[in-house]
Amino acid sequence: MKKKELPFSNERIKEIAEIYGTPFHLYDEKAIRENARRFLKAFSWNPGFKEYYAVKAAPNPYLLKILAEEGIGADCSSLSELILAEKTGITGENIVFTSNDTPANEFVKAKELGALINLDDISHIDFIHQHIGMPEMICFRYNPGPLRSGGNAIIGNPEEAKYGVTREQLFECYAKARSLGAKRFGIHTMIISNELNPDFFIETARMMFQLVAEIKEKLDINIEFVDLGGGIGIPYRPEDTAVDLEYLGREIHKVYDDMIAAKHLHPLKLAVECGRMITGPYGYLVAKVLHKKEIYKNYIGLDACMADLMRPALYGSYHHLTVPGKQDLPYDQTYDVTGSLCENNDKFAVDRSLPPLDPGDLIIIHDAGAHGHAMGFNYNGKLRSQELLLKEDGSIQLIRRAETIDDYFATLDFSKL
Ligand SMILES: Cc1ncc(COP(=O)(O)O)c(C=O)c1O
Repeated sequence: MKKKELPFSNERIKEIAEIYGTPFHLYDEKAIRENARRFLKAFSWNPGFKEYYAVKAAPNPYLLKILAEEGIGADCSSLSELILAEKTGITGENIVFTSNDTPANEFVKAKELGALINLDDISHIDFIHQHIGMPEMICFRYNPGPLRSGGNAIIGNPEEAKYGVTREQLFECYAKARSLGAKRFGIHTMIISNELNPDFFIETARMMFQLVAEIKEKLDINIEFVDLGGGIGIPYRPEDTAVDLEYLGREIHKVYDDMIAAKHLHPLKLAVECGRMITGPYGYLVAKVLHKKEIYKNYIGLDACMADLMRPALYGSYHHLTVPGKQDLPYDQTYDVTGSLCENNDKFAVDRSLPPLDPGDLIIIHDAGAHGHAMGFNYNGKLRSQELLLKEDGSIQLIRRAETIDDYFATLDFSKL
């Protein structure tokens, strides 16, 4: 059985669980910083390169602050995410606002913060013109539809996906935005999620640089900013291979030199808005075994549930499990590892080979640092768990307390019953 590494000893995690109680999400600051630095270095050949962390992946200001200290901005998609960025001290063009089906008040806030506004539809040009006026800098999200296959359960095939504008619309968008006063332009796309093949992103860069050249040729518009979106995958399974970031940076550099620099096109600031690969592998959901149940199958019931990590139930995703203290026992048991929701898909693992488990054992659910806690919800009256930070000096900081019953009832006024 292949193993995944942990940034703490069995004794240390048991001690943390004793002090804070389970379940909790734990993020590894040192690993997050090291990974961020490596990523930025791989693209340092591009002077304007910027990673805008997809706030939706882990909307915690303590994590955003760590990333901001490393030079990373925020990709926001809602009013709350914009406010979170603002409260963390991230403003101006350190924010890209990539939303869809967007209400006017969110555009108002994005403008107030000076964020780069990325429009999802041609009809949004009139909409923002009416509500906030045409910003000086504007960006459009491109959806290549049938021109590009790919996609997956998370984001959908481009042709079936609700995001972005078509190729024909794209040219109309820039012409119209310019006629309404826009002076600086960007282009964005995101057509894949959790992709481990770096060549997919290189191909996307090629597609985008081609568009930049065509926009220059047809409209005489200089695109200054190309956002390749997020979607870089992470090795959820121990046998998966992580995307080689240095290779990715190097190959995109070559495509850039061929398609932009050699043609003397306006220099481009490259951007990405990755969430998963920035924090995903460095976050752990730590839970405790509450019950062991043997019926037609064998079940291990945890004190965490789908409200703490929805991905296995939503997408059938694999998350590796480690049982501290039992790593070296034979993995000779087969369990479904469940949460307590009244939903049969509330399972962290199905038919998983694990060592023999008992109530009281801790279970570490790997790769929960992005699209984990963030996707939490309150179905069945379940409360979202606390978030802890394993700091660089080895100490622990509570960066979000667990929800309480009072939080859950806060929107109800029982006195009017
Ligand atoms: C517009 C946009 N950008 C970035 C991301 C981040 O994707 P990932 O966390 O897979 O990198 C998402 C994810 O849903 C997204 O919708």
